[in-house]
Amino acid sequence: MASSDHGSTTAPKDVPGSYGLPLVGAVRDRLDFYYFQGQDKYFESRVERYGSTVVRMNVPPGPFMARDPRVVAVLDAKSFPVLFDMDKVEKKDLFTGTYMPSTSLTGGYRVCSYLDPSTHTKVKQLLFSLLLSRKDDVIPTFRSNFSSLLATVEAELAKGGKAEFNKLNDVTSFDFIGEAYFGVRPSATELGKGGPSKAAKWLIWQLHPLVTLGLPMVLEEPLLHTFHLPPFLVKGDYRALYKYFSTVAKQALDTAEGLGLSREEACHNLLFATTFNSYGGLKVLFPGLLANVASGGEKLHERLVAEIRGAVADAGGKVTLAAVERMELAKSVVWESLRLDPPVKFQYGHAKKDLLVESHDAVFQVRKGEMLFGYQPCATKDPRVFGDTAGDFVPDRFLGEEGSKLLQYVYWSNGRETDNPSVDNKQCPGKNFVVLVGRLLLVELFLRYDTFTAEVGKELLGTSVIFTGVTKATSGPGS
Ligand code: HEM
Repeated sequence: MASSDHGSTTAPKDVPGSYGLPLVGAVRDRLDFYYFQGQDKYFESRVERYGSTVVRMNVPPGPFMARDPRVVAVLDAKSFPVLFDMDKVEKKDLFTGTYMPSTSLTGGYRVCSYLDPSTHTKVKQLLFSLLLSRKDDVIPTFRSNFSSLLATVEAELAKGGKAEFNKLNDVTSFDFIGEAYFGVRPSATELGKGGPSKAAKWLIWQLHPLVTLGLPMVLEEPLLHTFHLPPFLVKGDYRALYKYFSTVAKQALDTAEGLGLSREEACHNLLFATTFNSYGGLKVLFPGLLANVASGGEKLHERLVAEIRGAVADAGGKVTLAAVERMELAKSVVWESLRLDPPVKFQYGHAKKDLLVESHDAVFQVRKGEMLFGYQPCATKDPRVFGDTAGDFVPDRFLGEEGSKLLQYVYWSNGRETDNPSVDNKQCPGKNFVVLVGRLLLVELFLRYDTFTAEVGKELLGTSVIFTGVTKATSGPGS
């Protein structure tokens, strides 16, 4: 790593930056963030202005939803991991940042993501147990759901020359996760085909302060960024989702009781982990991954085809976990996509005590109670770690011994890729599942196709992908 460590021997500095005038400063910054500068520029310009990657600023939404929009932003690979240190930061109530959605959106409970590790042990353990109990179902369930997605892509391409991946992914990922975790596809229950749209509406009720729909500022500001949308308007949707979980999750709810949780609290947690954490994550992850792989073009596709079909052929034509583990390039591609476009970009933590935060260049004094905030793309595209290609998609980045040394700087799961989630930290319990399903998407694609083309754009929570062509496999187990 090309960083200098001399920061640790220099005297602590005050964190530079500015919050502007009370109220006015925060509103002005919010407008910069959404409309005048955009996310990346908002952070980069403040790093530039103050000559520091640890810098004071306001973060959205600000008034009137957040009591205090002021943060100390940590914007390089070296300072960011302070957010993973549970001795240094408190994580209660700040999953979505400086505001917290009403707990009436989660049945009156504060679910796992909003709890500090000091109080989340039972619910996090429940999720580890659930994932472990279903581990053998993930590959077959993924394959059946996503092979039918790709069949639809082919039909739509034949009909109109285009197939919108995001729409198909929303429907498929929702069914896939339900089936993978609980053995029952939501669309096969009373919920019918309405699950993904009910889930999306409920997600918007929690995330609207942080998004822009591309509407005029005069509409979005009062509608999305100033007041909470009333929870009662999404109550019916939530009730329908809850019914699905309380019906299909009997085994997980028994486990929960064994852990000392009430069935009701456990069920709201299962709903949240499945619908917000998992489904919300895959809504963003898969289009981002596909866009990056599309940009790699035929050369990359050829190499993925060779690796994936070779490993599957060696496993007797079966997609087994062991075969997937042998796909080094596919794994590197998934990590690289998670590095370049981390699906969850903001992380927060309140300083538990007065502490020192170290950037590449200096050491800063942070006071007890101050909010630390990380904008992940700044840290995971840090040129002092990833060099001149930090902003590029480099499929081979994590291959070999040298490549694997860089994994400690991949932070998408709210922890280093070399660390593991546990009940003692706030690292994502879905970490291994996510890297597995990312690879499974590549497996499904390149068993079936030699190459594909796509148009890539932006949408509400990330990237949009439209397939424009696929070339069916000409050899190997997928042909
Ligand atoms: C926490 C990312 C999928 C369950 C987190 C956090 C991040 C994250 C960044 C930490 C948030 C914070 O405290 O600041 C992602 C991404 C995913 C994904 C990008 C997919 C692409 C999943 C899946 C599960 C899951 C599949 C299924 C169990 C959770 C839970 C937490 C969490 C329960 C709270 C952890 C705790 O309280 O310690 N995730 N996640 N996530 N994630 Fe994931």
